Amino acid sequence: MKVTLKIKRFNPEVDKKPHWESYTVEVEPTDRVLDALHEVKWTQDGTLALRRSCAHGICGSDAMRINGRNMLACKTLVKDVAQEGGTITVEPILGLPVLKDLIVDMEPFFAHYRAVMPYLVNNDPLPANGRERLQSPADRARYDDTTKCILCACCTTSCPSFWARGEYVGPAAIVQAHRFIFDSRDQAAEERLRILSEPDGVWRCRTVFNCTEACPRGIQVTKAIGEVKEVLRTGVIQ
Ligand code: SF4
Ligand code: F3S
Ligand code: FES
Repeated sequence: MKVTLKIKRFNPEVDKKPHWESYTVEVEPTDRVLDALHEVKWTQDGTLALRRSCAHGICGSDAMRINGRNMLACKTLVKDVAQEGGTITVEPILGLPVLKDLIVDMEPFFAHYRAVMPYLVNNDPLPANGRERLQSPADRARYDDTTKCILCACCTTSCPSFWARGEYVGPAAIVQAHRFIFDSRDQAAEERLRILSEPDGVWRCRTVFNCTEACPRGIQVTKAIGEVKEVLRTGVIQ
């Protein structure tokens, strides 16, 4: 099938503002949008800039706005998004500075990620077996959903609260905090909750649900945020 990719282009070294360019390519309906973008870059316009690595929905590097919704280009089939006439609109994700075309500066996003201490803290001596801190299957299941995050930023950059205020820590960072707050082996929940109770923490979330809809891993993002809010309200981690 023929599809026309309408791509928002911007090169800050030469352009004053972004503009749209259209490219028509021949692809299979079951090709991914990433394949169509490769076709453009490799056969029509080598100056098109996009970020991708794994091409299989694991690395989280090719989040972009496809027909106005955040998706991973490598997990989105052309046949599922091609509109009447075969057009697909592709733009960079919102709320982060555009470096070139579809590539944004992820540093503000990762600064929020680092701020919530996204690592296990346990200062007790290692257990007698010297190998692992045991955990029951039920304890492990408590945070299973939030372990699936690939840090693609689809959630945070679809959130109106983040668009309005980039200082908001954002849903992805809260998902990461959730993963450790509810881990029975971790000892830094109090510190993470203190960080998340600050003005740009969880309370900036207005339960809009865009984040949950956008997550390519199917994580119940708004639910996880709600669970963190509940701990802050009650002081109890359940
Ligand atoms: Fe991406 Fe989902 Fe993680 Fe957000 S929670 S960064 S959408 S994988
Ligand atoms: Fe934003 Fe998701 Fe909350 S879209 S407002 S973080 S529910
Ligand atoms: Fe790795 Fe799409 S390229 S998730």
